[in-house]
Amino acid sequence: MNITIIGTGYVGIVTGACFADKGNKVICVDNNEAKVESLKKGEVTIYEPSLSDLVIKNYQNGNLEFTTDLKEGVQKSDIIFYCLPTPQGGDGQADLRIVLQVSSQIGEYFNSPKIIVNKSTVPVGTSKLVKERLLKNANNKFEVASNPEFLREGSAVYDFMNPERVVIGTESNFAKEKLTELYSPFVNSKEQILATDIASSELIKYAANSFLATKISFINEISNLAEITGGNISDIAKGMGMDSRIGSKFLEAGVGYGGSCFPKDVAALEFQGREAKLDLEIVKATRRTNFRQRELFIHKIEKYFQKNPNLKKELAILGLAFKSETDDVRESPAVDVIKSLTMQEFKTTSYDPKALETFQMFNPDLETLYLNSYQKAIEGKKVVVILTDWKEFGSQEFLDYLEKMEVKTIFDGRNMFDLEEMDKRNFDYISIGRKKIVKN
Ligand code: UGA
Repeated sequence: MNITIIGTGYVGIVTGACFADKGNKVICVDNNEAKVESLKKGEVTIYEPSLSDLVIKNYQNGNLEFTTDLKEGVQKSDIIFYCLPTPQGGDGQADLRIVLQVSSQIGEYFNSPKIIVNKSTVPVGTSKLVKERLLKNANNKFEVASNPEFLREGSAVYDFMNPERVVIGTESNFAKEKLTELYSPFVNSKEQILATDIASSELIKYAANSFLATKISFINEISNLAEITGGNISDIAKGMGMDSRIGSKFLEAGVGYGGSCFPKDVAALEFQGREAKLDLEIVKATRRTNFRQRELFIHKIEKYFQKNPNLKKELAILGLAFKSETDDVRESPAVDVIKSLTMQEFKTTSYDPKALETFQMFNPDLETLYLNSYQKAIEGKKVVVILTDWKEFGSQEFLDYLEKMEVKTIFDGRNMFDLEEMDKRNFDYISIGRKKIVKN
């Protein structure tokens, strides 16, 4: 099939490369010339495992093209995917300006019947607005559909190639059949393709992300209780997750969720509730608990230094990405942690295996010394703070090195280590929702 992808962000580039890899002819359109030029050279500007190889392979075999020419993009295909940003606007609502502006523009380019598929995360009701905009200029017939994306950063290509489900929301049988055909090579059985009305499809995306965020906030709340009452959150989560009705995933307590999706989508769902004159209490609590989780973590650090007044107020921050296997730093816990510690006159060094550059770019005003290895970041420091679960920080070599450098204390926002091992190694080890081992 001939497919056009409008927008080459995370979702767009992965979608384009994966469709091309199954033999479709894909053209990706973006209005950022520099980005399109880089993509033509096989340079993918984001770090995502195996994405670069996939882009190069399909660009070279002619299945994948890149252009800044929206008209050309629209005219070359029958199916057009929106993979456009819907950033958080005021009051938590999704900012639909880009989606609507593209919709106002492309109708006049319709040289044949088109299917417009929205993959961007958009509030319920957006497809109607898109349709209205398209109708104003449409030079040909068109159908609209909603097809939310569920891929995770860090395993985006794998997730796209092996979806647990594909959701297609449309009122058009023709669009449903076409999209089902397009996705057939990605699923083992047709049962994995769920056809719904458009509103349900739009809501599935927000409900799924917010539910996962709720699982995280819930386990974080229980971890805070366990710190007071006793109990080990890893065991508690395991014991809960062994019940298949609960499931073991997304029950890892930590410093709170971040990224470009959960914080924005939870806020946007809360806003959609308000618009409908409905207080979505659980959604609201999920957001608040997540915010508090970061504050509590920072508070632990402050308290520790108050109890140890002889310790120099110096720390090494390890992990700037919002999670491992990505260079994405949007809503990363590291931003708040560094900001707050700097305000309290801590001096920090910072290191991340992949996100050093992006972090500096997005946070030019943060005061921390960026270093390109954990060895350098740790030099001369007695206290280390882990904020991202990179494998590099979970290894024995890492712990050996910390011991050799006489690091005394580890604040672990990701519960990377075994408590007994840390006790044996004689660290003050302060993690989340587990027995505190602090010697003094
Ligand atoms: C999330 C969803 O998982 C995807 O299904 C969805 O497509 C995507 O948002 C999106 O809407 O585009 P992503 O933001 O890449 O994907 O990251 P996740 O792996 O879901 O992690 C989100 C945050 O939750 C991270 O900060 C992570 O560290 C945190 N997390 C995750 C926990 O704190 N505990 C857990 O048990 C799991």
